[in-house]
Amino acid sequence: MSNRLAGLLAALLPLATLAVSAAEPRASARAASPDARITVEVTTDNEGRASYAVSRDGRPVIAPSRLGLMFTDTAKFERNLAIVEQATRTQDERWEQPWGERRQMRDHHNELRVTLAETAGPKRRFDVVFRVFDDGVGFRYDVPKQPGLDRLSIAEELTEFEIADAATAWWIPAFEWNREEYIYHRTPVEEVGQAQTPITLRTADGLHLSIHEAALVDYSGMNLARVDGRRFRAALTPGIGSAKVDVAAPFATPWRTIQISDRAGGLVESGLILNLNAPNALGDVSWVRPMKYVGIWWEMHLDRKTWASGPKHGATTAHAIRHIDFAAANGIGGVLVEGWNVGWDGDWFGNGETFSFTRPYPDFDIEAVKRHARDQGVTLIGHHETSGHAAHYEAQLDDAMALYGRLGVQAVKTGYVADAGQAKVRGDDGALHYAWHEGQSMVRHHQRVVEAAAQHRISVNPHEPVKDTGLRRTYPNLVTREGARGMEYNAWGQPGNPPEHEATLVYTRLLAGPMDFTPGIFGMDTKSGAPMATTLAKQLALYVVIYSPLQMAADLLEHYESRPEAFQFVRDVPVDWEDTRALDGAVGEYAVIARRERGGDDWYLGAVTDDTARTVALPLDFLEPGRRYTAQIYRDGDGAGWRTDPHAIAIESREVGAGDTLSIKMASGGGQAVRFLAR
Ligand code: NOJ
Ligand code: CA
Repeated sequence: MSNRLAGLLAALLPLATLAVSAAEPRASARAASPDARITVEVTTDNEGRASYAVSRDGRPVIAPSRLGLMFTDTAKFERNLAIVEQATRTQDERWEQPWGERRQMRDHHNELRVTLAETAGPKRRFDVVFRVFDDGVGFRYDVPKQPGLDRLSIAEELTEFEIADAATAWWIPAFEWNREEYIYHRTPVEEVGQAQTPITLRTADGLHLSIHEAALVDYSGMNLARVDGRRFRAALTPGIGSAKVDVAAPFATPWRTIQISDRAGGLVESGLILNLNAPNALGDVSWVRPMKYVGIWWEMHLDRKTWASGPKHGATTAHAIRHIDFAAANGIGGVLVEGWNVGWDGDWFGNGETFSFTRPYPDFDIEAVKRHARDQGVTLIGHHETSGHAAHYEAQLDDAMALYGRLGVQAVKTGYVADAGQAKVRGDDGALHYAWHEGQSMVRHHQRVVEAAAQHRISVNPHEPVKDTGLRRTYPNLVTREGARGMEYNAWGQPGNPPEHEATLVYTRLLAGPMDFTPGIFGMDTKSGAPMATTLAKQLALYVVIYSPLQMAADLLEHYESRPEAFQFVRDVPVDWEDTRALDGAVGEYAVIARRERGGDDWYLGAVTDDTARTVALPLDFLEPGRRYTAQIYRDGDGAGWRTDPHAIAIESREVGAGDTLSIKMASGGGQAVRFLAR
């Protein structure tokens, strides 16, 4: 077969399962998405440098961008490369999420595996594997074991992403002190510095892109450094030695992902990240239980209680029992107790060696609390704040999880409060090393925690985590995580979260996966006295807008007791979904999201806006045709606004059907929540 004919076949028959090999090097390889709109082309230039490019409908999306790997102990993979083999394969498979934002998933893609070999020197080889979906592209390096490459000590990935068109970018900085907890920048792409992923881009003609990664296992997290113009290069998070990543060959990197959609909501509905993760490795996970929870928490963030022992200690037996009784009376599954264990006295920020994960403070009778919770049908949500001292935590990990297993704790919130680069891990040399939160050693640490927790049927919710890359598919007990500025910044942040924050998160951080944002603040007090950039209706809307299978009702219980009408929505709203639609929205401006409850017919809608008050006319065509629903509407009331009156809320009911249009009126910094009760 001639090279031209083979190339033509690969391009023309993307839907057929086809394997092509060639004895002679070929200059390019191509693949297209199942709907043929997205194409990927891999080429080598006359110096043997490999690059890839992505187009949609014939228009470049990613201009030719380099591929390669650089090592600490051997020559890099970058020059003198030739495409010596290529193979394509089609997959169309349906799979089910045990819990999630939707039940049914479809993994439909065309795969192109390109083998690049050195034409000079040691003649090493590696594959780049592309998967082209209708909603974007994923690719990874797959390096076989070969002479001179038993181990890969990766100094840097040379992967580039050159954005073809002018674009606006929403991004947070990489390699700064505060890990992942930043207010998003909105800038022209040429003004991005070093950015974390996911980064979201909207091109001048309205195409939405998100660059991220999937299946971050035994590797360092990828950031993006802008080199020049609209060209970015991968910047891996440093490791604890000279290499950023150290692994044995054969080895495949995480997938580098580019999600592509005409609509902002298309990014939200994309299943690409999950489809690129490996299937469930845990078997029966019926014990993973999505739930809402309350907790001894917000009052510490407002300085009304302390994590530390003493007169203001929050985690007392009586206070825990009060929360358990409230949870039981309101159909809330869990109670988080922070500050229950010895180690909080003194400066715990970044000083994790004082924590015991098995010794409660004397005023917290853990056995009595457990018995009361069990009798009320409520589970405790455990808490392991490590202050970033992963090594100290690992030394107690099995005992800590065994204790929680015995107490019937179904989920544990872990925490890694320490500045970026100040986590502590034990190296292969047995010594303690400072580490980045998203470096390879912390990626490994989190996997150990998830596996240890699974042994005791416990789910995990890390704060100050490694970013989400869809690992919940493989480890369904890795239910949610923080990894962005959450509600806590509205208590003590200087400044607090801006009014557009949630409408930005939907199209940035939340594309990676669920977030334990901890919504539901009714009180609106802040430590500084500055107004919180929200309304009460927005707080309700967040239960739908922000997806998390563990969803906190984060406020003080008395604030819920004093506003029972608004709290009814928190009681009603599910945390597990049959289906999700991102119906309307614009990045950083507003978002309208509807979800149908898992195993039920009711739909729930959440809408949030930025500083701009707006009215969205929303066709209700997602409802079942011919069916009537009672819409229970929680909207910003007269005079509502985050600066004016955050508490003004109107609660009303209307009969609606799929043919109706709902006028969603939101105040400045406001929102709306609706339950569509099927009749
Ligand atoms: C930071 C977490 O985000 C917060 O939720 C927690 O209360 C504190 N660390 C203490 O663990
Ligand atoms: Ca945090």
